[in-house]
Amino acid sequence: MRIEGNYKDDGYATIRGLIPPEVAANLFRQIELDLSAAGKSFDTFAKPHPLSKKQTIDISGHFYRPLTTFLWGLTPIVSELTGADLLPSYDYFRIYGKDDICRVHSDRPSCEHSVSLTLVYSDGVPWPLEVGSVPVKGEGPCVDDFGDEPFTAVEMQPGDAVLYRGIDLRHGRMTPNPNQWSAHLFLFWVERGGPFEQHAFDEQRLRSELKRVSNLDV
Ligand SMILES: [Fe+2]
Repeated sequence: MRIEGNYKDDGYATIRGLIPPEVAANLFRQIELDLSAAGKSFDTFAKPHPLSKKQTIDISGHFYRPLTTFLWGLTPIVSELTGADLLPSYDYFRIYGKDDICRVHSDRPSCEHSVSLTLVYSDGVPWPLEVGSVPVKGEGPCVDDFGDEPFTAVEMQPGDAVLYRGIDLRHGRMTPNPNQWSAHLFLFWVERGGPFEQHAFDEQRLRSELKRVSNLDV
């Protein structure tokens, strides 16, 4: 693992090799196999997303518990990287299709410390995450670009991650996805004793995810 940047000063840093690329590839494969064994596929989870132009495939850790275990297991290392005493909030797996984007936005309060981890690019072409430089106050509307705000585009290989302050710094993927599809894991933590501690384990989202899944009858 190699860290590029200064998380404390800049609000984001690149973590090269947060997990081995083989683990990233096999996590993806494991999800695919488990879905298949349950008579489902990624398409079961396709839905429109306000930040994207196309449908994305989203699987919450609240629904697929191995993802929650993955989040919990990364807690000590992300605590070390942030220099904060963290509790896990929630995570989700997402597949973006070709030419899709993620509009520029900031995150909800359960995303105090956020990690965007690249798992697989179908065509092996890095698709950068862009992170802004001016802290915002609270969740704002999602927009197509950063306007005048300077931003940094971070390219990741599978297994690489960007650690960023999701509430404070706007972020997105403005360039269309050059791959047929790409698979990512997004993971979130809050600080023990901090202003967002009530979002630890994200009970509210857990209840809404379980309700949504039961409505889907999957
Ligand atoms: Fe976000």
